Amino acid sequence: MTALPRDALRTSVINGELVNARRRAHLSAQWRVSLLASRVYDKLTEAPPKTIGLFELDMLRFDEKHSESNRNPLIRLRDVSRVYDLGEVKVDALKPTSLDIERGEYVALMGPSGSGKSTLMNTLGCLDRPTGGSYLLDGEEIVDMTRDERARIRNRQIGFVFQNFNLLNRTSALENVEVPLLYAKNVLARERRERAVEQLGRVGLGDRLHHYTTQLSGGQQQRVAIARALVNRPSILLADEPTGNLDSRTSNEVINLFRQLNVEEGITVILVTHDQDVARNASRTIVLRDGEVIADTTDFSQALQSLHSHEPVQSAC
Ligand SMILES: Nc1ncnc2c1ncn2[C@@H]1O[C@H](COP(=O)(O)OP(=O)(O)OP(=O)(O)O)[C@@H](O)[C@H]1O
Ligand SMILES: [Mg+2]
Repeated sequence: MTALPRDALRTSVINGELVNARRRAHLSAQWRVSLLASRVYDKLTEAPPKTIGLFELDMLRFDEKHSESNRNPLIRLRDVSRVYDLGEVKVDALKPTSLDIERGEYVALMGPSGSGKSTLMNTLGCLDRPTGGSYLLDGEEIVDMTRDERARIRNRQIGFVFQNFNLLNRTSALENVEVPLLYAKNVLARERRERAVEQLGRVGLGDRLHHYTTQLSGGQQQRVAIARALVNRPSILLADEPTGNLDSRTSNEVINLFRQLNVEEGITVILVTHDQDVARNASRTIVLRDGEVIADTTDFSQALQSLHSHEPVQSAC
């Protein structure tokens, strides 16, 4: 194996390149470590080694040990609940829930209609404030924040993808992707454009920049929405039924993209889905029922079992 330029690699770690990469990724598997280390190496020498040895692993372990943010999970919920108070009735949409999600995880939220998936998702995405409990996002308490503070943290950390794409009609793909940057301070028109072009290229739509929403297929529209979600360089991508309006082939395209963003770029992906084929791609599944987590597992067959365990038996008639 070619010897790595230790000092150069160390310098780039100190300069924050690898630290930032590490922050975005949960690097438990050695091949992921290799991927990131080889990227840095690539930048330095333009000739990455085929295999990366223990030296890089040690460097990253060193980084892991010394980086404060890596000690906290990205998401930490403790007894988080959401009650909708409708006057005469109160709906326990989310009963006190505690869970951690690490950087770089890929999590699927499943459960029957009305089980609280969107409520949990909106809470994680800081769109909604929990009624009780503690929610630490990257070490910051969300529950005490004002609406504006939550909006700021959302812009910085989170990208959203919705079932119905939520794109502007009679507007080009490029302009749609630029929208979140209109709210960002200090981003000039030229940079806005460059970043939107970059994101559309990233989702494979470099040749559809000027197409209007109505001139794109469903899968392409969802990819524009994903590019828009990525344009602020979030560390978390949240998607509520992202393939709900897509046929199975197009759905696969979108799911492959999520997987690629998770594996190659270390983006934390959390998605709500009813579709087993979509959920199967995640490495962890959380199953909700009546506002409660009834399973939280890396074993997908166990998740399916919980999902179906209380379902009424269909009578054959
Ligand atoms: N704004 C609201 N006001 C009152 N009750 C609400 C509100 N939003 C959701 N609920 C209730 O909270 C519960 C959980 O709703 P939620 O939308 O989280 O379910 P879900 O699992 O996302 O369902 P679906 O799969 O149908 O999207 C439901 O009983 C719902 O009726
Ligand atoms: Mg929902």
